[in-house]
Amino acid sequence: MPNILHSSFFVADATQLILDHAAVAIEERGRFFLALSGGSTPKAIYENLAKLAPDASRWVVTFGDERSVPPDHADSNYRMASDAWLARSEATVLRMKGELDPAAAALDYEAQLGAFPDFRHDLILLGMGDDGHTASLFPGTTALEETTRRVVENYVPQLGVWRLTFTFPFINAARKVVFLVKGQSKLALVQAIIEGDTDYPSERIQPVDGRLLWLVGE
Ligand code: 6PG
Repeated sequence: MPNILHSSFFVADATQLILDHAAVAIEERGRFFLALSGGSTPKAIYENLAKLAPDASRWVVTFGDERSVPPDHADSNYRMASDAWLARSEATVLRMKGELDPAAAALDYEAQLGAFPDFRHDLILLGMGDDGHTASLFPGTTALEETTRRVVENYVPQLGVWRLTFTFPFINAARKVVFLVKGQSKLALVQAIIEGDTDYPSERIQPVDGRLLWLVGE
């Protein structure tokens, strides 16, 4: 049963959670593998990280998904995180190349991950949409069925766009997965997913040998 934490200090609690996991990972393994989520919710958290300016020289930062747009595009998750924090950090950033053909970009990202033998995320941050999607694993899309690859291109007919996304196997291989969800509108959905009585994509986030936490802000 996943844990759920209702937070009145969402940004501070999320930031501290990241810093705590970084400290443990670096202490135990010398590096911190962190996956960032996109969308709007995490922006304030990344801005807070920029303000606190932790030593991220041992951090390897990935993206759970990306839009098929160039890195300077307004819709780019990379651009949002870079402007908010990454550009001013010493982290090693593995960027999903949204400017490439989606299939080529997915293969390129797999190659970037391959540079780190036995890659395993210490912490993956996820958001959730009102339709229960997470990363770019949208209801009814092909990527939901991927069982071996870590990163795939995914056409999202609901939006009429291509996306790049981590797959369920890759996300569920993490040591810790944290959903960062804000807004009353999503509370009922979070509860239903935690109770396991839906077929939303977010319900299939079930770390195999890791922990799952829902951090829910007002
Ligand atoms: C994206 C995200 C996506 C996001 C949810 C929630 O690229 O949009 O990765 O999964 O986390 O859609 O988005 P909000 O935080 O904007 O509600």
